[in-house]
Amino acid sequence: MTNPDPRAALIERLPKAELHLHIEGSLEPEMLFDLAARNGVAIPFASAAEVRAAYSFSNLQDFLDIYYQGMSVLLTEQDFFDLTWAYLLRARADNVCHVEIFFDPQGHTERGVAFATVLDGIERALKQGEAELGISYRLIMCFLRHLSEDDAFATLAAAEPHLPRIHGVGLDSSELGHPPSKFERVFARARALGLHVTAHAGEEGPPEYVNEALDLLKVERIDHGNRALEDTALTQRIAAEAITLTACPLSNLRLCVIPEMAQSPVRQMLDAGLKVTINSDDPAYFGGYVNENFRTVADALDLSEAQIVELARNSFTGSFLPITEQARHLAEIDQAARG
Ligand code: HPA
Ligand code: ZN
Repeated sequence: MTNPDPRAALIERLPKAELHLHIEGSLEPEMLFDLAARNGVAIPFASAAEVRAAYSFSNLQDFLDIYYQGMSVLLTEQDFFDLTWAYLLRARADNVCHVEIFFDPQGHTERGVAFATVLDGIERALKQGEAELGISYRLIMCFLRHLSEDDAFATLAAAEPHLPRIHGVGLDSSELGHPPSKFERVFARARALGLHVTAHAGEEGPPEYVNEALDLLKVERIDHGNRALEDTALTQRIAAEAITLTACPLSNLRLCVIPEMAQSPVRQMLDAGLKVTINSDDPAYFGGYVNENFRTVADALDLSEAQIVELARNSFTGSFLPITEQARHLAEIDQAARG
């Protein structure tokens, strides 16, 4: 059935790519419970409803504490498969046909789960998603920025034997106090290995962190990038260099990065001519997948249909897909936009 709201109907029928999604952040409370029972892991909640009620955050660190705790139920290859497969089914339902997902190997290896167990499970689901759901993918390994440079180097070394299966590196976790400069050398090594590079910057951290991500890490995308808007020269640079920003509206709201959805940076980013995309970040924790993020921000900012189409186009032109693949998706967007 077509949605009677024309804006929501457009959002539903547009093909989209998701470029900012932490696979561990797609662990829904119900699966958290199932995996805890399957693996005999104790969790301090009596029901999925109780878990949801605990998802009230006043900043990024509040969330991260619960996010790392949630990961403790992920132990086997099958767990990582199940997690990723559930996400892909949600993505398919939202007409997402390409995903570039993050995973946090250090969140697992530090608990004694082997790097290969994590990678094998996630990749098996991604391959099945490509074959059965028609969703293409890239896989991006993130370094936890609250850990040391040495830890990041060790993680990159653990990844090296698997490199053709990993397409890029990212930088996530607690931003304040952990500037991109801390990881300049490890990102240089990742680039030398032929990996794509992106980094969370300007979510809570100052515009200077966004500058560092561009100048020192030489990132191709900025994840979030909200606070770049505080610096006019930086904003102009991001526009001139056509750097993609992966905005996450519901995440921003739930982590109190913005006081209300009407304050989403997406409006200013579009007005400044920045290549912004809409993403769900950690949908199990922030209350919605891609289409819900599109709908909420489009309603709050009263975005036009042309702006919604632009956001969907940016998700492909900002992806790591080859130009020919991007062009095929853009043609499909044009067709969907005509209704
Ligand atoms: N910011 C930083 N680190 C993260 C996030 C985020 O939004 N989600 C998962 N790890
Ligand atoms: Zn993120």
